[in-house]
Amino acid sequence: MVLLTGGAGYIGSHTAVELINAGYDVVIADDLSNSEESVMERIGRITGKTPAFRRIDVADGAALEALFGEFEIDSVVHFAGFKAVGESVAQPIKYYRNNLDTTLTLLETMKRFGCRRVVFSSSATVYGEDNPSPYVEEMPEGRCTNPYGWTKFMVERIMTDAASADPEMSVVLLRYFNPLGAHESGLIGEKPNGIPNNLMPYITQVAAGIREKLSVFGNDYDTVDGTGVRDYIHVVDLAKGHVKALEYAEKNTGTEIFNLGTGRGTSVLEIVDAFERVNGVKIPYEFAPRRAGDIASFYADPSKAERVLGWRAEKTIDDMCRDSWRWQKGC
Ligand code: UFG
Repeated sequence: MVLLTGGAGYIGSHTAVELINAGYDVVIADDLSNSEESVMERIGRITGKTPAFRRIDVADGAALEALFGEFEIDSVVHFAGFKAVGESVAQPIKYYRNNLDTTLTLLETMKRFGCRRVVFSSSATVYGEDNPSPYVEEMPEGRCTNPYGWTKFMVERIMTDAASADPEMSVVLLRYFNPLGAHESGLIGEKPNGIPNNLMPYITQVAAGIREKLSVFGNDYDTVDGTGVRDYIHVVDLAKGHVKALEYAEKNTGTEIFNLGTGRGTSVLEIVDAFERVNGVKIPYEFAPRRAGDIASFYADPSKAERVLGWRAEKTIDDMCRDSWRWQKGC
């Protein structure tokens, strides 16, 4: 059985769908701090199989111990963690406490139960601001621009050290680029608490009339049209990358790192244009100052994941815009 910590969230729920579709038994542990229990039933509607669910905080050692006692867990995909970049700058201790505690408690419990396989939800943010794009896995990690990023950096280090000390352990670190979109059923997607930080949830809320207009943060970057460039990847493609990573972890020991991105950069204005064209809705926007901590442009070299895992992103920016809007309309 595969344990998904934080499996009720945006990327976790899509990964649950793909793992179940691939024949895995899944148990989800989530404290529902940024998700809802109704996701389980929705995963069930998509796959025909509702995953087991326990509402626990993964940093709660006794609760996690009980979970490992109840289910025969042979692999873990670790998503649980706080992820709002701006909040991490304002409340760094909260981020370090939560993101590190969950990981340490998880690794201790895994060790006690002889579970030695973990796939971690890391981020391209660990490349920092000084590495040039495209980012390749062999680059030295950079200086992260915020505490959230540093927690990803630290968890990568902790897991790598754990695997070095245990020759039977298998760690796969997945460095995500920018996930967008939603499941094409419209049943699961991203549901941010409060005002969205990320680009696409903000755009869909403008399209739905919840927000008046998009602020485009910076139009004087050295990019195709002056706005920020990112490597946007459809969340279903990203989820499928986890299935491949788990298959890899089943056959190998040690630590391996993979970028999950498309290798293509897209600007903010290109996303706005695509969204308007695909969905036939207008997105009013205005230019605003650059957002602190943002960098002009970054994108992946995804060739290692293709070579080693046999995985590549298939879906387009148009798919991401269409699926994000379908999900928002159903909310
Ligand atoms: N943007 C706007 N207006 C908005 C929101 C975003 O113009 O209202 C722009 C940003 O300036 C940036 C682009 O849209 O150029 C993407 O911004 P996001 O906030 O969606 O994503 P980021 O690239 O800033 O952050 C993402 C993840 C983080 C991760 C980071 C680095 O959200 O988890 O990539 O990998 F740390």
